[in-house]
Amino acid sequence: MPDPQLVLAARVQDALTAAFGPSYADTDPVIRPSQFADLQANVALPLAKRLGRAPREVANEIVARLDVADVASGVEVSGPGFINLTLKDEWIAAQARRVLDDERLDVPPAETPQRVVVEYSSPNVAKEMHVGHLRTTIVGDAIARILEFLGHEVIRDNHIGDWGTPFGMLIEHLLDLGEEAAARDDSSVSDLTAFYQAARQKFDSDEEFADRSRRRVVALQSGDPETLRLWNLLVDVSKRYFNSVYRRLRITLTDADIKGESFYNDMLGPITEELESRGIAVISDGALCVFPPGFKGRDGEPLPVILRKSDGGYNYSTTDLATVKYRVETERVNRMIYVVGAPQSLHFQMVFAVARMAGWLPDDVSAEHAEIGNVLGTDRKILRTRAGGTVKLSELLDEAVERAGVEYDKIEREESLGEEERAAIVEAVGIGAVKYADLSTARDSEYVFDFDRMIAFRGNTGPYLQYAVARIRSIFRRGGLRPEEAHGPIVLGHETERALALHLLGFGAVLEQAGATAEPHRLAGYIFDLASAYTAFHENCPVLKAPDEETKASRLALAAATLRTLVTGLDLLGVPTPERM
Ligand code: ARG
Repeated sequence: MPDPQLVLAARVQDALTAAFGPSYADTDPVIRPSQFADLQANVALPLAKRLGRAPREVANEIVARLDVADVASGVEVSGPGFINLTLKDEWIAAQARRVLDDERLDVPPAETPQRVVVEYSSPNVAKEMHVGHLRTTIVGDAIARILEFLGHEVIRDNHIGDWGTPFGMLIEHLLDLGEEAAARDDSSVSDLTAFYQAARQKFDSDEEFADRSRRRVVALQSGDPETLRLWNLLVDVSKRYFNSVYRRLRITLTDADIKGESFYNDMLGPITEELESRGIAVISDGALCVFPPGFKGRDGEPLPVILRKSDGGYNYSTTDLATVKYRVETERVNRMIYVVGAPQSLHFQMVFAVARMAGWLPDDVSAEHAEIGNVLGTDRKILRTRAGGTVKLSELLDEAVERAGVEYDKIEREESLGEEERAAIVEAVGIGAVKYADLSTARDSEYVFDFDRMIAFRGNTGPYLQYAVARIRSIFRRGGLRPEEAHGPIVLGHETERALALHLLGFGAVLEQAGATAEPHRLAGYIFDLASAYTAFHENCPVLKAPDEETKASRLALAAATLRTLVTGLDLLGVPTPERM
């Protein structure tokens, strides 16, 4: 990997070993961006304390052993003992060229590839997806793509809510409407919100219906074939709907990735019995509970994870416990990432704690709740429709695309595009804007859904980045050239060329961090900074009209490397990049 921070860290560590002995080989060299140079190594300060010597003296000793002649043009001890490091232009240029010429942009595949399950989206059957699912879906998909690019084996897992007591009333309501309605995709069934509400309303007001529904739950849980067939009809209607949303959002989930709550149903009996017989679970007030140590309620009383209610029914937690066990024992994963709303944080902590108690989650398997913050309206309250209902995802996306069209038509352009191309671009801009806005915010922070901000063509937005990409492509088009043909060599003259080339070297390190923390916003931030560095370059360094052929070849190479990094990065975020805009 060409990341200068890593290259210099290794060199400083060599110098530490040479100066102070092998026991210092693993000392963190504390390499940071510098105000006065490209980077600085701050290790002399903590080290001086340890050695009981003056920091500047320690710094000088490190510098005396530091072998960076090929990488750095300047090494200087400053202030209390900082080592300022200025990179050589030739080194930066050569590394940037490696990025350009490498299929993977010089990002090495993970040294120890892991098998990672990324659980995301996870909407509920017979319910409309809402903005909360939008975030878990978009962020989860980006995490999966990033880890895959880094060479990990990713198991995408859509843990849909497809089981439980509501299915009794939903099935009975389906029978009342006539089951052909489901096959026909009749709106009485496919309008999921209306369907669910109608069933609920009958359940609350009609005793006979409520009775039938309860009997239906029992039939479903005991595996009655006819009931399962009807249940499947409902699940299929929902899957068709989920898939339409996924297609529109360019989400990589397919039906094959669905392992809903029902998948674990047969494991619930055996695992609860096992925990009971091993004395890990105990009966408390008629319910089977585990009390993981360290979890206390408001009054300091121990908090239970209820595995089986007193009526014999299993819980959401029971399913999640079975899920952990299955992922470890059967799927043999090294890491599981749950991309789920922050309000479920305690739930996951407790499930993971119980799984560790049971020995189902060994220490070398990491279980992470990648928390997703709530989506707020511009009034900073939970996003609602004007009427106070939950906002439907499809309507939100329609509005995004419509607004993107309005913004798009405001741009002045030389070539006017056909209606069909315009429609495709506007769709990509609207969807890209929504996705990027979500991905550029730290996933665990609350997030204000604001069309005006996300669809702007300026600032840290999807449209700005898509536009940056289109602008680079248009340079090649106008020059009658193809980006794949640009190979440099790269020669750095103007400071914006140097800054751009230097930024190109950081892609791999950022991806690695984004993968390790399951935080796509780190990648988004990098892409935005890269596009900004490109904009500064673009404004100062003519490409097609460069002063000489050598400079032109170099600038085309920089433009091509930027283009591919932007497109690859945006693709890992699942943000489309139209050819023209
Ligand atoms: N279906 C749930 C919901 O819509 C999310 C499921 C989260 N995943 C899990 N393993 N519990 O809130």
